[in-house]
Amino acid sequence: MKNTIAIGIQWGDEGKGKIVDLLAPQADVVARFQGGPNAGHTLVIGTQKTVLHHVPSGILHDETLCLIGNGTVVDAAELKAEIDLLQASGVPVAERLRVSDRCQLILPYHRALDAAREVARGSERIGTTGRGIGPCYEDKASRRGIRLCDLNAANLSERIDTNLHYVNFMLTEFLKAEPVSREEVEEALELARQHVLPLAADVTIILHQQQQAGACILFEGAQGTMLDIDHGTYPFVTSSNTVAGAALAGLGVGPNAASEILGIAKAYMTRVGAGPFPTELYNANGMNDASGRHMAEAGHEFGSTTGRPRRTGWFDALVTRHAVRINGITALAITKLDVLDGLDEVKLCTGYRIDGELIDHIPADAAVFDRCEPIYESMPGWKESTFGVTDVEQLPATARAFLTRIENLCEAPVQMISTGPDREHICHVK
Ligand code: GDP
Ligand code: IMO
Ligand code: MG
Repeated sequence: MKNTIAIGIQWGDEGKGKIVDLLAPQADVVARFQGGPNAGHTLVIGTQKTVLHHVPSGILHDETLCLIGNGTVVDAAELKAEIDLLQASGVPVAERLRVSDRCQLILPYHRALDAAREVARGSERIGTTGRGIGPCYEDKASRRGIRLCDLNAANLSERIDTNLHYVNFMLTEFLKAEPVSREEVEEALELARQHVLPLAADVTIILHQQQQAGACILFEGAQGTMLDIDHGTYPFVTSSNTVAGAALAGLGVGPNAASEILGIAKAYMTRVGAGPFPTELYNANGMNDASGRHMAEAGHEFGSTTGRPRRTGWFDALVTRHAVRINGITALAITKLDVLDGLDEVKLCTGYRIDGELIDHIPADAAVFDRCEPIYESMPGWKESTFGVTDVEQLPATARAFLTRIENLCEAPVQMISTGPDREHICHVK
């Protein structure tokens, strides 16, 4: 395998964890470059299910070095809990994982701000994961952030004082929420000192050495292109760049570090949290189309991090084409094909209609995007089960036709087709 950036190209939860885990044996290094515990990446091996939030999805493989890059935001308590769980099941995480000394720490006041801001937004809320992601990236950009390498800084105490002064003013005066205590913050810092600092490293040096030794590097994205802070449905997005380009800055490697960009997409779409979703069919707020309900039920569409029900809808080829362009996608992995088994027809969105006009791109303004009506192409569905199929030739002809149409509309070749949650449930397209 060539160095590959594997990213989600819808609204997250495309099955990145599964795909990265199954590619990991071909890689020497698996590295996360953005996001934090808002991610929930599921790995299924037989009866064992592992949900990873911080730790890269290569961790279950003996020979794989896992790296968490400078572009991520790390919650020490969450990372410790994840490491403990993995170690309890026999995975020697401490040997396999290194965390960038430059990554930003999520502190209790970030979570408090995240929660209070969502309450203040009322009906305009983003539906964040509540993990403090936005406020932490905000501190990074405003240069107030506390990084892993700052834990032993001489001026740390003064910086915390200044931050708490500001944050508690915001919380109590502006957001009418409870303040955060110095003790809570000290506790979080101590946890980071004890459990994350021992894993700290200059990840850029490790990667450089690996590159010089000819190692294969797999870059693992979190979230998806439509949640990217620049290219997604702003403001209903996460607070980091989730696109392939972010892999470079988020790990400190040059633009020539990867030649393959794998775009991962479900054979339909889901979204968790608020924001436009033109092909939406089904949600917890009363949209109740039968095909959408089928996707939610057969696909077990509940958030891996928050457990919230996911909104479901038809595959939107405009979204995917947007992602192919922005990320320089060289191949697609289509997941959850099996979830569409049994539907009479399957649909693909090929355009939008707005105010009587036809458009074939994603509008910049979320309010405009929200008003777009999808134009569909309908194709026959398939009654046969594709669950667990590992050979493309064994897929029903109608399913293959659907995938070929996706390929044509998205202008990128389908390289992998996932037919179930397990590592083994995969068709490789030759
Ligand atoms: P990620 O965030 O992109 O890693 O995706 P999540 O793990 O949040 O959500 C994907 C869900 O779909 C998980 O429960 C996976 O186990 C499951 N999954 C992944 N691929 C497939 C597939 O091809 N078929 C089915 N039925 N489930 C899948
Ligand atoms: P993975 O890596 C799906 C969504 C939230 C919300 C928005 C902002 O598992 O695909 P945040 O907490 O980041 O400030 O929330 O982004 N979101 C995700 N949706 N999968 C994810 O990660 C997500 N991470 C964040 O639901 O709409
Ligand atoms: Mg997920």
